[in-house]
Amino acid sequence: MAFFKVPSCGVLLLLFFIATCFLFQCFAAEVEVNQTARLLVDASQGRLIPETLFGIFFEEINHAGAGGLWAELVSNRGFEAGGQNIPSNIDPWAIIGNDSSLIVSTDRSSCFERNKVALRMEVLCDSQGTNICPVGGVGVYNPGYWGMGIKQGKTYKVVFYIRSLGSVNILVSLTSSNGLQTLATSNIIASASDVSNWTRVETLLEAKETNPNARLQLTTSRKGVIWFDQVSAMPLDTYKGHGFRNVLFQMLADLKPRFLRFPGGCFVEGEWLRNAFRWKASVGPWENRAGHFGDVWMYWTDDGLGYFEFLQVGISHTDEVDTSAVLPFVQEALDGIEFARGDANSTWGSVRAAMGHPDPFDLRYVAVGNEDCPKKNYRGNYLKFYDAIKRAYPDIGIISNCDGSSSPLDHKADFYDFHIYTSANDMFSKTHKFDHTSRTGPKAFVSEYAVTGNDAGTGSLLAALAEGGFLIGLEKNSDVVAMASYAPLFVNANDRRWKPDAIVFNSAQLYGTPSYWVQQFFRESSGATLLNATLLTNSSSSIVASAISWEDSENAKSYLRIKVVNLGSSSVNLKVSVDGLGPNSIKLSGSTKTQLTSTNLKDENSFMEPNKVVPSLTLLENAAKDMDVVISPYSFTSFDLLRESVSMKMEGTDSFSRSSI
Ligand code: AHR
Repeated sequence: MAFFKVPSCGVLLLLFFIATCFLFQCFAAEVEVNQTARLLVDASQGRLIPETLFGIFFEEINHAGAGGLWAELVSNRGFEAGGQNIPSNIDPWAIIGNDSSLIVSTDRSSCFERNKVALRMEVLCDSQGTNICPVGGVGVYNPGYWGMGIKQGKTYKVVFYIRSLGSVNILVSLTSSNGLQTLATSNIIASASDVSNWTRVETLLEAKETNPNARLQLTTSRKGVIWFDQVSAMPLDTYKGHGFRNVLFQMLADLKPRFLRFPGGCFVEGEWLRNAFRWKASVGPWENRAGHFGDVWMYWTDDGLGYFEFLQVGISHTDEVDTSAVLPFVQEALDGIEFARGDANSTWGSVRAAMGHPDPFDLRYVAVGNEDCPKKNYRGNYLKFYDAIKRAYPDIGIISNCDGSSSPLDHKADFYDFHIYTSANDMFSKTHKFDHTSRTGPKAFVSEYAVTGNDAGTGSLLAALAEGGFLIGLEKNSDVVAMASYAPLFVNANDRRWKPDAIVFNSAQLYGTPSYWVQQFFRESSGATLLNATLLTNSSSSIVASAISWEDSENAKSYLRIKVVNLGSSSVNLKVSVDGLGPNSIKLSGSTKTQLTSTNLKDENSFMEPNKVVPSLTLLENAAKDMDVVISPYSFTSFDLLRESVSMKMEGTDSFSRSSI
């Protein structure tokens, strides 16, 4: 299923309806010399951090899905991207041969009702006679998304639909970008009667060589007329067979996200409503999905990564549906929720069941709109969605687009969405953003945050450190902040619509930006216990810290984790004192220090240097409840102190939680 589930972490789903002054010496707020600080931690008391605090936000932006996480290699597999009027543009498909050997066009003869456009190939040359086909034949090729990443020894499943007026003899091949080197090939031979009606063809291709810039060819040397439609090429080994590109999915799994927000962002709305995502057109067999042009990020998606997760709503970027006319959109949303959560016998749940997933998905939250609060019809439309969804699904948490962090919302909501894209200094200062937010009422969902602009480049250490400071603030305020996710998650380096991003890839390579790695420092925070921690420093503007207590479920060990971000230019001698622990309660062996830093604040990772700015782990030689540590300038550091046993009082209760190792 086109459904992100990171099995080990029980990801929740959120659904969205539409309704050079960068060197060390010159960035810091101030130059600090011989800085010292104290961190006082009380390990006897704590407050539970929500299980769902840190998650991920997936948006179809930068070819994150099509040509990215979704492992489909063919772009425009149904020939629909050129529009419904024929003749149409078949881009990125291209022709092998010339006017004297073949004529390629489109017509509306497909057997698929929702997407009628098919490719018609009239082959004029032959293997004998006066018009001999060139060596290798004539036909069409698809270069995928800036080249197909083909790996030696891997098998690729190619599926397509074909019809012909006569017998066919077709070569299905993976080749180099110029077609001269064949990586894998298969010969499809069929009699005229076999292919006189639309027929599904499936073949497996095992690659003999690796090529990051390959293409898929359909060629023949036999005269005749052939129609092709719905041409797909997928690697056999996708993540757990679900169709996701393994390496990219693994990067997500490594973050241990506790929720998934999807599918946008602006993508879901469309610049214009007529180009918004219509979820009903993206479920059912892939061959029967029309695909659509996303006019916000300006590219076509075949909607293989569609299924039930993309929904539509009553507000786009530009046009708005009047509240008096919004009910059909509300019904569309209810149908969408039924598709995700309904019984397998319900109208839309049965469609999901027919796709191989009879069990409902764990959809818990619905956001109405995206950054739409200022719009004229937002409140009116929002309330229609709110009332209808709550009536049918009282347990679903509804997320408003209006900011409730400074003053109370003027409408009912379970959560409010909070987005922040800003400079590094401002992001770092926002560590205190929620310190004074009302402790009652809807909680915040910080669904998009990132340092952008010059400070960030395409993903700098500086941006990551500032975000780290912000996240420490969210962790401390997790009584009023329920969820948080970085944005955007992915970028195909061939199509940067937005920068920076957490994970950068092309057809064959990938790396995490420093912002990606900062998120890894927080992956144990969800469901952990926040400890009281007080930082005493002579310069609070450039250093922040927090302390949590967490358990490693894999080895049942308990740790006390101290995280410190130093955005200053000087190292800090930090004296840590942990109260509430017995003598010898910290084990020396097994305690570690993990640090993210680099020689230059503006350092970034790249395909050439994917590990330039990544965390490094060392043993913590002097681990103890009282210890002196040195925090490097411009660094994110975490100290994981392995505990002998845990005994602590939870805030607001009289009970002690205990575990021992
Ligand atoms: O994350 C990129 C874009 O930023 C999202 O689509 C939108 O919600 C925000 O403006």
